[in-house]
This record gives sequence, structure tokens and C-alpha cells, in this order.
Amino acid sequence: MVRLHRNERQSPLPDWFVNKVSRAIGGSLFTNYPAADELYRVLGEQLELPEDQILLTAGSDAAIKALFHAYIRQGDAVVMLQPSYAMYEVYARLFQAEVRAVTFDRDMKLDYQKLLDCVSSGARLVILANPNQPTGALLEQRLLREVIERAARVPALVALDEAYYPFSDFTALPWLSGFSNLLIIRTFSKAAGLAGLRIGFVAGHREVVENLFKVRSAHDINSIAVLAATLLVNHPEIMADYARQVSQGAEVLTRMANGLGLEALPTYTNFMQIRVGHRCDPSRLVAKLEEKGYLVRSHTGVPCLEDCIRVTLGPPELMMSFGRALQQALEELDEGRRD
Ligand SMILES: Cc1ncc(COP(=O)(O)O)c(C=O)c1O
Repeated sequence: MVRLHRNERQSPLPDWFVNKVSRAIGGSLFTNYPAADELYRVLGEQLELPEDQILLTAGSDAAIKALFHAYIRQGDAVVMLQPSYAMYEVYARLFQAEVRAVTFDRDMKLDYQKLLDCVSSGARLVILANPNQPTGALLEQRLLREVIERAARVPALVALDEAYYPFSDFTALPWLSGFSNLLIIRTFSKAAGLAGLRIGFVAGHREVVENLFKVRSAHDINSIAVLAATLLVNHPEIMADYARQVSQGAEVLTRMANGLGLEALPTYTNFMQIRVGHRCDPSRLVAKLEEKGYLVRSHTGVPCLEDCIRVTLGPPELMMSFGRALQQALEELDEGRRD
């Protein structure tokens, strides 16, 4: 099965990288508790931030959970987009927060004023994936700044989840020095391709990072993840090269999908939403593609994405073979309807 349903990296990491990690795995790496000092040092250098403004976490999901754990009490309001990364709402419910969700309309437009209005009394946290997942939308910088400024007055924290950096090259990281209520969350799961090793980080004001540190589990990131992430930070060309491959793959798939009479939506991530609803039932297309060896997703019950399938992007050759399978699947669904 080709896994185009979870936004994972589709190309293997370079052989030299895998060999270097494999060779380093030995006795003390297994027997000693993890040591991440070197990773904090190189990451701090790369992000141009003091190390005490960074906290490594077991995937970005652990950073998100820590944020709720440290800051959210029963009845606090959490502002988020709808739909967005599903765990925001799961953690909000777990910590008994009030969810203030701003929903994308059917045309995938967002009511900016409504978002700003939600950032008001009772809000403790605003959590926004930028670009958003699964809509792929990138929020305007002007709006983000307004959200952060309003939140500072409430006061509330603003967490910008940049899981899809550097597919989208915008980052609010340079804004950290100007806003003490801002946090940036990143992961090594997407462009870096370490989803199986569980490593990410959060960057923000010293005091916030300290509070997140207090609620984390001891030794929560493992030594192999630390080793691989350190190597990746030292070789930024690995992620940059993959982001280039994905952008070329996106061009190929856009051309093929539009050529088939579908509508490929613009993307700033390693996934693409393709509107198929006018041609066929998206969930039947997903099942047909699965028969052909490709896993993709549909979004039943999500109004703005109900007529879409979501496809993880990869290098151009992979997108070409997926595009051919998509064409066959559509033809077979058409034939099925005629029979
Ligand atoms: C927007 C967003 N944030 C966070 C995550 C979690 O990533 P991880 O826990 O693997 O770092 C995902 C995963 O799909 C995501 O799409």
C-alpha cells in the first residue's frame, strides 16, 4: 500500500543519513538515559534562540498536550479553527475547556472578524495550525498579528503550530522576541521524516517554556530520536531538498487532477485537497483507490471538505503514478454507474 493518507514523508531519508544513525546505535545509546544537550545547542543556533526558550517534546503532539496540561483549567476557553488538527479538540475536552471554534465555510473561507471576536474574555489559549490541517489554509500575517495582540490584552497564549514548515516557508518564529504570549510548535514528523521516532519542539517565552517543562514526563524523548534530529538540524539541506520534491510533486498532481476535470486546491503543505464531489462520491473514490494500492482520505461530515479527497504529496514520479491510478479509478466508477 502507498500511504498517502497521513501526511508522512514519501521519500526515504538519504542512505548516508540512515547508515550514520544505524552505525551510532550501540551499547550506551540503549543503556543510558537520553542526553539532548547537543540537540538543544544546534537547534538554538539554527533558530537563533537561547536554549531555555526551547523545549523538545515527544512529537509536536506532546507539546500541544503539555500546553493544555500546564495552562487549561475547567471552563477556560480555547480558540481554534474548525476543522483543524483533531487533537486540539480532544485535549480541550480532556481538560474540560470550552471550545470556541471558528468554522471554515463551504468555500473554505474563514470569518476573520469572528476569529478576532473569539479572542476575548475567558479565552486562555488560541491554538492555530498555520498552514492549517486538513484545509491547508495559510492565515494572513496581518490577522495573526492582530490575534496575538488581542490575546495579549485578554490575556491568552497563542500557539502557532507550524507542523508543515518548511513546505510553507512562512514562520512566525522571528516574532517571538516581540510577543511574550506567543509560542511556536514544530515537528520532525513531516518534512524531516521522523514520524516514527516521535520528536518535536516548542519555542516561546522563558517562563512559558519553564511551565511546559514542569508538566512533561521525565526522559520523554528517546536517544535515537535525539541522534537523528541532531543530524537533521546539522544538515538542513535534507529537509529543503524534500520540500523542493514535494513542491514539484504538487505541480504534477495539480496538472493531472485539473486535467481530469477535478479541482486541485492550492497547497502550502505536503498534502493536497482535491475537489471530486461533482464527479463521484469521495468515499467511493477512496475505496477504489485503495483497491489500486493507494491510501487517501475523505472527510465525511466536514462541510467545507465533504466533496474532497486529501492526498499526501511526494516526489513527481510518485504523483505521476498516483495520478494514473486516479484516472483509472474515476473511469471505473463511471463504468460502474453506466452498468
Ligand atoms: C497540524 C498538526 N499538528 C501536529 C501534528 C502532530 O504531529 P506529531 O505529533 O507527529 O509531531 C499533526 C499531525 O498530523 C498536524 O497535522
